[in-house]
Amino acid sequence: MAEERVTKDAVLEALRTREGEWAPTAALAKDLGLTPAEVNAAVNALCGEGYRIESRGAAGRRFMGCGDRIIAYEVKRNLAAGVMGSRIIALERTTSTNDVAWAEALSGAAEGTVVLAEEQTAGRGRMGRPWVSPPRSGLPMSLILRPDLEVQQGNLLTVMSAVAVAQALRDHLHVQARIRWPNDITIKERKVAGILVEGRSLATGSAFVLGIGVNVNTKAEEFPHDLRETATSLALEAAAPVSRVDVARWLLASLDRWYRDLRFGDYGRIARRWRRLSSSMGERVVLVENGREFRGRVLDFSMEDGLIVRLDEGVTRLFHPMTVTLRQLPDSR
Ligand code: BTN
Repeated sequence: MAEERVTKDAVLEALRTREGEWAPTAALAKDLGLTPAEVNAAVNALCGEGYRIESRGAAGRRFMGCGDRIIAYEVKRNLAAGVMGSRIIALERTTSTNDVAWAEALSGAAEGTVVLAEEQTAGRGRMGRPWVSPPRSGLPMSLILRPDLEVQQGNLLTVMSAVAVAQALRDHLHVQARIRWPNDITIKERKVAGILVEGRSLATGSAFVLGIGVNVNTKAEEFPHDLRETATSLALEAAAPVSRVDVARWLLASLDRWYRDLRFGDYGRIARRWRRLSSSMGERVVLVENGREFRGRVLDFSMEDGLIVRLDEGVTRLFHPMTVTLRQLPDSR
């Protein structure tokens, strides 16, 4: 099995170096010390994984990329991360990548295991809302994390990952990604990504699944009607298609970096960056908690406890992210 993977990887890399050019099978085989039959078997297997490799008689094979299919090997390739993406599971279709990640976590999968999918049929968001990931246009991703935290401290992971996602999008796509408390990533006030952290207390300690949904190449008409005014995608903002494989890699590398700070207890650095990236700091907001509306101005936030708001009636109150939804008021200042 491992030998088969090594052969496939060797054939893939040999083809990749000649991307767009024809490579005769016999020459490929000779270069790699394989038989033509082994090259053919590897090419068939690679096509089955989603690679586009054309075939034409004596001209041989021509590598045409992977059409941005989410293939584990492509995400892993050049991934600059230690923990995140230690193992990558890439699926064609699933109910929710969080479900798959939980099944893996419960059977002992290592921290940093990531589940990606081309399509989710029952993706879930915060507060029981659905999360729509149309086939091949979004990036649903779930990571297994086993930090030394209590289940109730899951908000620390939401804050850390919001920073990691917003920062990665800024660094690589140069978009003005911001954090809308507690778990939205926005560009020009439209939601481009959402974060859902689920935690469970197991005999071996706490385990968390960090779910991130990014609208990557989603077209305006692909969003459900009620979201068309408030959602966006990376491609819409960058005015060009964006590689989901690249986005997966950027997010994993960024999460790796910010998660390290969290594990070492360096909350201060995460909190400072959160304040810089947040669109809620200092703003006038409406918070809805158990059906009750509160209006006020955001003074600050606490990584563990939530948003600190000076209410219009004069009192200062903490709002915990588990129970609250936030709306920003347009007449902000
Ligand atoms: C939200 O904005 O309410 C959170 C959305 C989180 C969606 C992601 S997509 C990957 C993972 N699987 C799910 O079912 N949900 C999360």
